[in-house]
Amino acid sequence: MILLNPGPANTTRSVKNALVCEDICPRERDFGLVQKRVQQGLTRVVHAGDAYVTVLFGGSGTAAVEAAICSVVPPTGRLLVIDNGAYGTRMAQIAEAYQIARDSLQFGVGGYPDLNRIAELLQTKRYSHLAVVHHETSTGLLNPVERIGLLCEQHGVEMVVDAMSSYAGVPIDIAQMRASYLVSSSNKCIQGMAGLGFVICRRESLQRLQSFPGRSHYLNLIEQHRFFERHLQMRFTPPVQIMYALDQALKEFFAEGQENRSERYRACFAALDEGMHALGFRRLLPDHMLSRILTAYIEPTHPDYSFEAMHDALYQRGYTIYPGKGAQQDTFRLANMGAIKADDMRAFIKVLAALIDEKGWLPLYR
Ligand SMILES: Cc1ncc(COP(=O)(O)O)c(C=O)c1O
Repeated sequence: MILLNPGPANTTRSVKNALVCEDICPRERDFGLVQKRVQQGLTRVVHAGDAYVTVLFGGSGTAAVEAAICSVVPPTGRLLVIDNGAYGTRMAQIAEAYQIARDSLQFGVGGYPDLNRIAELLQTKRYSHLAVVHHETSTGLLNPVERIGLLCEQHGVEMVVDAMSSYAGVPIDIAQMRASYLVSSSNKCIQGMAGLGFVICRRESLQRLQSFPGRSHYLNLIEQHRFFERHLQMRFTPPVQIMYALDQALKEFFAEGQENRSERYRACFAALDEGMHALGFRRLLPDHMLSRILTAYIEPTHPDYSFEAMHDALYQRGYTIYPGKGAQQDTFRLANMGAIKADDMRAFIKVLAALIDEKGWLPLYR
């Protein structure tokens, strides 16, 4: 099965095999050392030195986003959420659930952030933190996070970045991005299995959290960090096998190298997008906004077309495609993350071309 959904992504045979390991109590030092290696590897992916530390949580990516949002904004602080898609909206919803003082700056789903408006708001000095999604997976838009980070630095605001679906797919230098907290999970471009989320934290920012208690017992960033530093253990039971798989995935990431991984993903995108264009599909976003890790295509308007029919037929032929999420036009989405190659994308296009022919869906748009 080739997964064109935006994670969990395809994994290598060796990552799958890493799940089958000896039983071990996760409070043993041997397992602590595996976690330490994973923690350091995750930090190294974004070129973070000793000034940063990774805090791991058992849970999906949203657990880690929630841990960051609910832990870092002090009771006297205020959060500005940049919202141009479903995952920006989700960060605002998390802030709301914890009754954190906040404002959302909305650019519409798939709208490009206006840096002047962000700067204007930061100038008001109302905000202690800003939250932004790097790759808005709902549309495939890559936000200009480095430029937003610069504005944050100029105004003394700390930036929380949801880099769920860009981390390890797009090169990130966390210091250059000026992120105080950067969040991702084990099952996207790092090519591990689902079950671990993590927050890469600037130590100096993390230290400041000591002075207020936090809002969640489980998803408490500073407590989770302190406990691991003291005991080389997570506070609560970790997904043991997923940790071994992530350890293997990290080894494979460093063996491949960030440049080669990004290049492989770009080659997958090029093969996919060229093929989709040749078949007559239209994209939601223009070139300059694209992540090249996930692409939203406008749903055909041919009267006989339906996403479900296309999904089900492709699924039977070994390809998983993904529905749209909240864009202003109806879309479906194709991701090209994971242990896949450009040839897999070309093979997919052939299968899709045959399906369109068989169903008589041409012309796609009326
Ligand atoms: C940008 C972004 N943030 C958050 C999430 C949520 O991650 P999870 O489904 O693992 O909770 C996703 C999932 O696709 C995402 O793409």
